[in-house]
Amino acid sequence: MCGKIIPVHTPVLAPSLLAGDHAHLADAARVGAGLALPWLHIDIMDGHFVPNLTFGPETVAALRRAGIKVFFDVHLMLDEPHRYIEAFAKAGANLISIHIEPSYDHAATLARIRTLGCQCGIVLNPGTPAAAIEPLLDRVDLALVMTVQPGFGGQAFRREMLPKVQQLDALRRARGYDWRLEVDGGIDLANAAECRAAGADTFVIGTSFYKAADPARFAADFSRMA
Ligand code: DX5
Ligand code: ZN
Repeated sequence: MCGKIIPVHTPVLAPSLLAGDHAHLADAARVGAGLALPWLHIDIMDGHFVPNLTFGPETVAALRRAGIKVFFDVHLMLDEPHRYIEAFAKAGANLISIHIEPSYDHAATLARIRTLGCQCGIVLNPGTPAAAIEPLLDRVDLALVMTVQPGFGGQAFRREMLPKVQQLDALRRARGYDWRLEVDGGIDLANAAECRAAGADTFVIGTSFYKAADPARFAADFSRMA
């Protein structure tokens, strides 16, 4: 990959809809959209891979019907994500991320996501080493390092994940990959700066964003940090 110019990705704040008001999801989506934040992170849980349930493809489709036009970053926390790719692509996902931990054909599923016109991402739980996704890093648009055990919002950031972020960023640079490096779980402005220094460029922020006294100010402070 000698000589390839590695693009520096603009940092992205992706509000996590999970922390919004579930009785008014379109309004929650509009909080970020109204601040010109280009991404929205949508967590899909199956009660098996993680001990919680959230949204389905119909939620995603309904947000599109409600006029939400931002980039939908759909994070599938499912034991069998390959069964739901078509449904989420059709519903309006722009990027679909799948976990490495469950057993299914990861490479075929990533390829299928792209065939359906979406970007694809691969996700690592805190206990999973970076090496587990290495063989797939030549065919993704995003790598996501979980900085909490997935399943619930509002958990404490796990600082011990920073070396994994650094490791993936180093690999990305060494091999000239241009995927985004995302962090998700317990992110606030202070630890976002640490993640940024470690190489992350995409920041899923649920509780800190939605529960901020002033989300506009939060977004402005984020853009100064970045
Ligand atoms: C956790 C989800 C996260 C969650 C982050 O399983 O993947 O996206 O919404 O929320 P906070 O920022 O509250 O940790
Ligand atoms: Zn998530």
